[in-house]
Amino acid sequence: MPEIAARKQVEFIIPVLDQVFSTVPKEDIDAIAVTQGPGLIGSLIVGIEAAKALSLALNKPLIAVNHLVAHFYANFLNYSADAIKFPALVLVVSGGHTDLVLMHSHGNLEHLGSTIDDAAGEAFDKTARILGIGDYLGGVKLSQKAAECKENTLAGTLPRPMLDKDNYDFSFSGLKTATKRVVEKAESGELGDLAEKYSVEALACEFETAVVDVLVGKAIKAASDFNVKSLLLGGGVAANIPLRTRLQNETASLGIPLFLPELRLCGDNASTVASAGFFNQKFVDFEDLSPNPSLTITD
Ligand code: KG4
Ligand code: ZN
Repeated sequence: MPEIAARKQVEFIIPVLDQVFSTVPKEDIDAIAVTQGPGLIGSLIVGIEAAKALSLALNKPLIAVNHLVAHFYANFLNYSADAIKFPALVLVVSGGHTDLVLMHSHGNLEHLGSTIDDAAGEAFDKTARILGIGDYLGGVKLSQKAAECKENTLAGTLPRPMLDKDNYDFSFSGLKTATKRVVEKAESGELGDLAEKYSVEALACEFETAVVDVLVGKAIKAASDFNVKSLLLGGGVAANIPLRTRLQNETASLGIPLFLPELRLCGDNASTVASAGFFNQKFVDFEDLSPNPSLTITD
């Protein structure tokens, strides 16, 4: 609910800044990094206006940061920058985006592919609602439900969209609809042979496995095609344990160093914005900085 999000942002921005300045000496601040987009317009406005006010008050330059770029710069907070070698393959999986990007160096990104419909996180959230296990950010709850499943009795019954396509794009909308159809059939007693194998836990597990199969399959294909020296994960869905484990296993067998953000740095947070600001140093003039809700990862 964009209106509520913006109002909450107004309510919290000053207390958050108060908290920051109770521990960070103002002299230690070199610049103010702020998210320019993509995101909800109301929230972006609040952040940008606060950043401009800080920039004026502290007489420090402003740095514009792309929200999606900030996600994978979480990795530069918990690994040494020297350890991450280029070209690197970046997989950003969040509530609004699913992107595969080739990172040649800081600030030099090449777009490889994106979702053509729902983002991975969005599919997790919508499917959680379909399974009746979560209304808000249900992806986490869906994953918890899947973890309760001892054996995936529904293995292979859902599609792995676009996995066999020779490109780096994704599609998750059909997978969500296929899951919905299984639930509807279960409710109307039309599952046939699958009826004995059906449980919400198994369906959650099969859905999660299908998403992970596609994300990992496409990422590994791109990593091999471009002979990358590192693979970086980022975004809210980077907190998904089966995704992390599968990437660890598959990159290990290919000998590609994998970089995973700390769990607490996967979702939206300011330290990753600071990290992206520090490494990219995209300074902007006060009057040139305005929110851009539809910024893409390579803008
Ligand atoms: O990056 P983020 O915090 O916000 C956006 O920029 O969108 O991502 C939030 C998304 C939500 O869809 C949420 O359900 C999903 O990340 N998410 C997860 C997990 N933790 C968060 N999805 C699957 N498994 C998780 N453990
Ligand atoms: Zn995000």
